[in-house]
Amino acid sequence: MAYNVFIAPREIYYGAGALKAVANVPGKRVLCVTDSVVKAIGLADRVVDILKAKGADTAIYDQVEQDPSRETVGKIAQLANEFQPDLIIGLGGGSSIDAGKAAWVLYENPEFMSLSVMQVVPKIAECVLRQKARYVAIPTTSGTGSEVTKAAIVTDNSITPPYKGAWNAPQIVPDVAICDPELTVSMPPQVTANTGLDALSHATECFVLIGPSDLVDSLALSATRSIFTWLPKAVADGKDMAARDKMHMAALQAGMAFANGTLGFVHSMAHIMGAEFHIPHGRAIAYSLIPAFEYFYTTACRGRLVQLAEELGAEGGTDKAKVSALFSKINKLKKDVGIPVAIKDSDMPEAKYMASMDAMIKSYENRLALVHPKMLALLVMPKTTDEVRECFMRAWTGERAELAG
Ligand SMILES: [Fe+2]
Repeated sequence: MAYNVFIAPREIYYGAGALKAVANVPGKRVLCVTDSVVKAIGLADRVVDILKAKGADTAIYDQVEQDPSRETVGKIAQLANEFQPDLIIGLGGGSSIDAGKAAWVLYENPEFMSLSVMQVVPKIAECVLRQKARYVAIPTTSGTGSEVTKAAIVTDNSITPPYKGAWNAPQIVPDVAICDPELTVSMPPQVTANTGLDALSHATECFVLIGPSDLVDSLALSATRSIFTWLPKAVADGKDMAARDKMHMAALQAGMAFANGTLGFVHSMAHIMGAEFHIPHGRAIAYSLIPAFEYFYTTACRGRLVQLAEELGAEGGTDKAKVSALFSKINKLKKDVGIPVAIKDSDMPEAKYMASMDAMIKSYENRLALVHPKMLALLVMPKTTDEVRECFMRAWTGERAELAG
């Protein structure tokens, strides 16, 4: 029997008021990485005030953008080189937490400073961390799971199409995660909806792609059930603290699940669309989820997809009926939280989407080309241009594939 490993932060503080626990983390020189919105609503200052009260020196970088660029990450690393923090905090959505992680990697591995996103990918397993600083992640959205994952997503805008790559290594898992649902109350409904769909994809995609694991399955299923129940409530009333708490826990559980499982084609499609059109990650995920799952249904993952549908109460005597019911449930959730079922129902012009089709396929092929040939055969990913084109087309039309069985 094969064994496995489960990786998570050493400490996870959670529940209303958990932010105060940032004072428990050792650190005399603290760099806080965030975005201008989180700074403007006073959350960064709240963190800094707690740290100053215990005598720490602090610095803030508050210009992280959506889909942080290699350039931004380099600037934060430069600031770290000047300030020499012994603690780095990523405060915000996935972009800020990822930008902080990536800057942490550059700060502690100066030989990466001159490398592109793509050049770091094959070297990231060698990166050394915690010689200079530890890392604390404080999410202000409920979706990315970045607070517990081993990945930092960085975008290289210097190439066409832009390359959105994952720096992925176990040592990048933050030392501490602080999950305080009170920090998510000001999240607008649309952001709540998008990030909630992202969390749903983490839980469900990793469930479908990995073999049975009681540890990972329990987290993935708990998160999935919570999201179907509580996301519409959190979107309808952002001050519903029960819904905010449940969604923050669901995102955390989904993050731990996929950090110890895997993500795949859903996220590949979404990263490509996100880099091409600069649509929010969770929104791109919402469009990719069903076309990618329809592809999974044609693979050896079909059994797990059917099992997922059964776990969620989908009825029907056949695999096709159960999985179709699951897809209808996902589309109902999207409608309930104000997300169009298909991209054609959004404000994206058809000509713009179609004009990018070849570039998106090329980007996908470039990603596959980075995978070692021996690994490629094991990946549950379309290998032909026609298959990929069909998935991107169905993300546009929302038309469902004909399922066998
Ligand atoms: Fe995601």
